[in-house]
Amino acid sequence: MFSRFARHSQLIFIVKNAFSTSSKAESKVAVIGASGGIGQPLSLLLKNSPLISHLALYDIAHTPGVAADLSHIETKAKVTGHLGPDNLKECVEGAKLVLIPAGVPRKPGMTRDDLFNTNASIVRDIAECCSKVCPSAMLGIITNPVNSTVPIACEIYKKNGVSGFEKRIFGVTTLDTVRSNTFIAAEKGLDVSKVHIPVIGGHSGITIIPVISQCTPPVSFPQDDRVRITKRIQNAGTEVVEAKAGAGSATLSMAFAAAKFAMAMLEALNGMEGKVECAYVRSEETEAKYFATPILLGKNGLEKNLGLGKLIEYEVGLLKEAMPELQGNIKKGEDFVLK
Ligand code: NAD
Ligand code: LMR
Repeated sequence: MFSRFARHSQLIFIVKNAFSTSSKAESKVAVIGASGGIGQPLSLLLKNSPLISHLALYDIAHTPGVAADLSHIETKAKVTGHLGPDNLKECVEGAKLVLIPAGVPRKPGMTRDDLFNTNASIVRDIAECCSKVCPSAMLGIITNPVNSTVPIACEIYKKNGVSGFEKRIFGVTTLDTVRSNTFIAAEKGLDVSKVHIPVIGGHSGITIIPVISQCTPPVSFPQDDRVRITKRIQNAGTEVVEAKAGAGSATLSMAFAAAKFAMAMLEALNGMEGKVECAYVRSEETEAKYFATPILLGKNGLEKNLGLGKLIEYEVGLLKEAMPELQGNIKKGEDFVLK
């Protein structure tokens, strides 16, 4: 009996310690779209972080309930719920990081671009508010179509005269690297925690370019396998949309990916060096104005764009194929704000 109790106490101690590694700086983080399929598990993961002192949850529905539920968890972040447009301002005020999974997801047969008509104005309005209330905060945009919603947010910041926004607005493409690492580790029988593959380009179909030739550790594939795995990574979102059969798109893996991105960002903001994540940002690395590459994160957001690195011929071909679609998506986002 006693030993069972001792083991139980030890387990509680281990779990609590796992969530309470020392943290110097503490931050307010806002989640916009917090009641949704991504928003809820993402908020749960963030509630576990010792780097967050205040978790502010905004949505147009259900935030009082989600916030009340999360607030009972015995970790230190204070949780507040903010409901409806009149309360968006108080949610983002003072936030260091704003994560945006607000908007509709795909159903089978739709492309991400099909979400533009609904989601463009949602991101525009959130960016409008953030550009005025928390212009120095980092923005992590999850809402699709990311290829267009990031240009929308940037155009809003530009219109409102916010300088340096290029270093603070990120399209969250972490799920593409998470998937690439998972699929390639499985193919090669590797420890997935040690596999890292940069994914460049954008976040839809052929604009998703996994750079398998730069995998750590190095891996080699016959060309037909390389093509098959690349296509699986490019279609992985659709794989989930079809499996969910009308009930939405990736939510749990996306929440994991967004939390991974958020933790890297918060650690970098707190002065930890060497944090690198792939993200879709304003870029001068190619002829596209926005492009995902590995980004060195720092105290002020984007510290250094690490660029595309050396590509093999097959990957150069993928890049060429992606460019027209990516540039079309970017123009569509910019025109939405400018016209
Ligand atoms: P969901 O429908 O489950 O949740 C969306 C939430 O947004 C809902 O709670 C809804 O009330 C809220 N919302 C709607 N309009 C809002 C507004 N104006 N302000 C604030 N909140 C608002 O959808 P989901 O599965 O969580 O997906 C959300 C978005 O994330 C979709 O656009 C989806 O395509 C995208 N997504 C992106 C990635 C990526 O890799 N970047 C991955 C998966 C999903
Ligand atoms: C994903 O990659 O899972 C997301 O972009 C959602 C989608 O619509 O596929």
